Formats: sequence, C-alpha cells, structure tokens
Amino acid sequence: MFAKTTEITTGIFKSYTNNEWGADGLLVCLSELDLSQEVILGQPQLDQTLQRLRDKGIFTGASGELEALPTHGLLPYAYVLVAGLGPVTNRDTLRAAAVFAAREALALRLERLAVKLPSAFDSRSAASALTEGLLLGTYRIAAYRKNEPARAELRQAVLLTEAAADAALLESAIATAEAVAEGTNYARDLTNLPGNKLVPASLAEEAVRLAQHYGFACEVLDEHEIAARGMGGLTAVGAGSANPPRMITLQYKGDPDSADVLGLVGKGVTFDTGGISMKKPDGMEEMISDMGGAATLLGALHVVGQLKPKVNLVMVIPSAENMTSGAAYRPGDVVTMLSGHSVEVLNTDAEGRIILAEGITYARQLGATHLIDVATLTGAVLISFADVATGAVTNDDEFLKPLLQAAADAGEKVWQFPNYPEYRAMLKSDVADIKNATSSDRWAGAITAGLFIGYFAEELPWIHLDTGGTAWLWSDKGIEPKGATGVMVRTLAAYLCGEALK
Ligand code: BES
Ligand code: MN
Ligand code: ZN
Repeated sequence: MFAKTTEITTGIFKSYTNNEWGADGLLVCLSELDLSQEVILGQPQLDQTLQRLRDKGIFTGASGELEALPTHGLLPYAYVLVAGLGPVTNRDTLRAAAVFAAREALALRLERLAVKLPSAFDSRSAASALTEGLLLGTYRIAAYRKNEPARAELRQAVLLTEAAADAALLESAIATAEAVAEGTNYARDLTNLPGNKLVPASLAEEAVRLAQHYGFACEVLDEHEIAARGMGGLTAVGAGSANPPRMITLQYKGDPDSADVLGLVGKGVTFDTGGISMKKPDGMEEMISDMGGAATLLGALHVVGQLKPKVNLVMVIPSAENMTSGAAYRPGDVVTMLSGHSVEVLNTDAEGRIILAEGITYARQLGATHLIDVATLTGAVLISFADVATGAVTNDDEFLKPLLQAAADAGEKVWQFPNYPEYRAMLKSDVADIKNATSSDRWAGAITAGLFIGYFAEELPWIHLDTGGTAWLWSDKGIEPKGATGVMVRTLAAYLCGEALK
C-alpha cells in the first residue's frame, strides 16, 4: 500500500555543469526577482532563452508557471525545468513548483531529477516543501484496464544544497515530508476506490492492516455488535445495503503522562445513493468519495505511525453504505442512538451526520476528551465555498485556533462558519430529541449539518471539518489532482506532529 516509487536523496550543488547523479532533468525554482537578473542560470544560451520567455510574458516567474527547456547538450541534463515561485518564496509556492515539475517530469519520461534548493530560503524548509510537492505531484489515480501500459516513473530526485553541512538536517526534513505526502497519497488511493471495490467490511480490513503495520490497537464491530450496543443510527443507515455496516476504532498512545485524548471521527460512507430520499443520477459517481473523512484519518495515522508524535488518539470510523431496499430506513423513522437520544429522520440522504453522531458518542465512551470530526458532510459547503475551502464548525473557538494555524502551515484552506443558537434551533423535532434535516434543506445547510453532530459532543471541545467541497474534484485544480485529494491529511499531520515537522 505504501510502495515507494520515488526515492529522494541529497547532494551538493557545485555548478550547473555538474551532474554526478546521472539525472536527466534539472529543476530550478525561480522567483520573479531571480528572473529579472542579467544572469539567471549562468549558461548564456539558456539564459537568452529564459530572457526571451520573460520578455514575451511566457515565463515571468509567476507561481504556477513551468517551462521545460531542452538543453541540446548545453548542460549535462536532457531538460532544465524552470518553475515560477511568484514574488515571494514560501512553502506553498515551493510545494506547488515541485508538484508541477513532477507532473512535467512524468510527461517527459524523466526518471531522475536533480533539484536545486533556492539559495535565498531556509534549506530545511525548502527541502521539506519540495519533497512534499514532488511526491504529491507524482500521484496518479489507479486504472483497471485489461492491458494497462507500463507507466513512466520518476525514480529518484536529488535535492542539491550549496551547504555541505546541511545533509543530516535535510535528511530528517525529507523523511517527515515523505511521511506526510505518502499519507496524503494513501488517502487519495483509498478514496478513489470504486464503491464495488470498497465496502464497510473492506474499509475495516484496511484499517486493521494499517494498525498491524504500526502496532496500534484496532477494533471492528460488525452489524450484530453495532445493533447489540444500541447504535441504532448506524444500524438504520446501513440497513438498506447488502454490505453491512462496521464501527472501526484505532488507538494510539503517544503521551502516557497526559490525560488528554483526542477523538478523531471520520465519515466512512463507502457509497451514498441518498437512500429512499434518493440523489439525482447526474454525478452520483462522486459519492465513492463519501468515505473521504475516514481516508483522511487513516492517512493521518500513517503519518503518526512514522513520526510518533506525543499525543493520545482514539480514531473512530463509522462505516456504512447508504442504499435503498426493502430493508432501508425511511423518512419519518425515529431511531434511538448510542447516546440514548432519539433522532427523527426527515431525509435519508442526511445519513452522514447520523453515523458521525454515533462515532462521536463512541469516541466519548472510549475516553476522548477533545473531538474533531472530518466528513464529506454536505453539498451546502460547496454553495458557500465552492471546491476551494473546507468548512469548520466548532463549539470552542480556542480549540479551533491551533487547527486553523496547522491548516495555514500545511497550505490547506479551512474557513469557519458561525455557530449561533438560531441554527441549533432549526433542528428541533416535534417527536424526537433532534431531527436530521431542517424544513429547508438549503438554508445554512453546512452549519445545521455540523451542529447536528455537535449536539452529541455535548460539553466536550469539538471541531467539525466539512470536506464536501474539497475531498474530491471533477478536474485537476492547482496542485490538487482530479478525483480524491486527500484533503486534511496535511492539516491533521501538521496539527498532530507540529513539533516533529518543525
Ligand atoms: N455525502 C453527501 C454530501 C455531499 C454532496 C458531499 C455532494 C460532496 C458532494 C451527504 O450525505 C448529503 O447527501 N447531504 C445532503 C444533506 C441534505 C439532504 C440535508 C446534501 O448536502 O444535499
Ligand atoms: Mn447523503
Ligand atoms: Zn453522504
């Protein structure tokens, strides 16, 4: 599952004419200022080409720009890739430059890339951002063709620093960045699995495999145990499917001296038809990604397994397939949850909040003192933020702050929704403790959905992250690929392993 295809190593940059690594490509990241200089690479013909590209506005050093210049033997590389960094060099522009360079390297069938670290930037931080970008950029979605042609691979990238003393520091920065990128790509792979290839039982098996790989405790409840324990919400959501539900938990104890336990709850709906309140057929295939929250948690756990941060975690993944059948739950049903509260089901397509509420209660029972849930919860978050930002709802602004900082550090966008009591009031039911959909599905849909889950967090500090717009894309967007993005793995990694990543 974590097969390494690109090996990242380090080397010493002496001059552009040096290529003791036998690389077929050289990546140079250039800011707008770098590009305005008389001497850019120091190779007269290539500098002339670059100046022409700059003067024609083709390559100006803006972030996102990438040009592949064939060297025709002027330098000992087949191509020099130049990537723009924009007016400011930072981790985000470096990561993006590396993503675009990796994609171009694959397109040009380059197998070995030498990468010059920009001299005007902290080399450790540059190495980590570039490593992340290179590995994220080589991600490709799995295909299931009968005769799949052999794919080009970027086998090696050598990060070149001018300071020989840096080597050990760079190695550790590379190792942590590798863990983060691999965790993200792993979440993408899991999320991209079609609904017929990933059902609740196989998601549970994957969690068990991951737990065994790192020696974490893992427990899986099957549909009988789920019902016996009184998880009526998870039983109801899973009832319509031939693939029964699972409740998956994983535990990691990295700080035995602390009483704090972070409960992470991830939505694991392996396919969402909407159930009896069925979705329109157009675009329903996107709902293979409705377990994106679960995949994000497992991707983050992969990072935790490598970096071993000083935190205590209990991860809870309620998993079900939301289908229709004679056994499916219906609008109007009243179900009793693990917490003992009753839920009036008004829309069977609002299934995520029901199983997440069960996950929240279970995490509390397992000792969580703080809660974060990650879920492709609503289409409404797309109305608010398009596919640009993940929406956050919380009952504790102080608890949210470091998470927002972690997202900014990781280069992922999270924006907070308000949490006014009026929104909670919209979930009042005449016959149950709470209802799962409001009379207008559309008004403040992302907020009311989040607050349904928050109801079950009760007094514990809680954050909800709605990745309904960001977990899956209809086409490539910036550094993110079409299909699953693995969104929030990097944010959670920065949040949990902040010290290790510094
Ligand atoms: N999984 C969907 C949310 C979703 C939709 C995510 C589109 C990504 C893209 C969720 O289970 C759902 O169906 N939510 C409904 C709730 C409504 C019925 C109250 C929605 O957002 O339409
Ligand atoms: Mn739904
Ligand atoms: Zn759903």
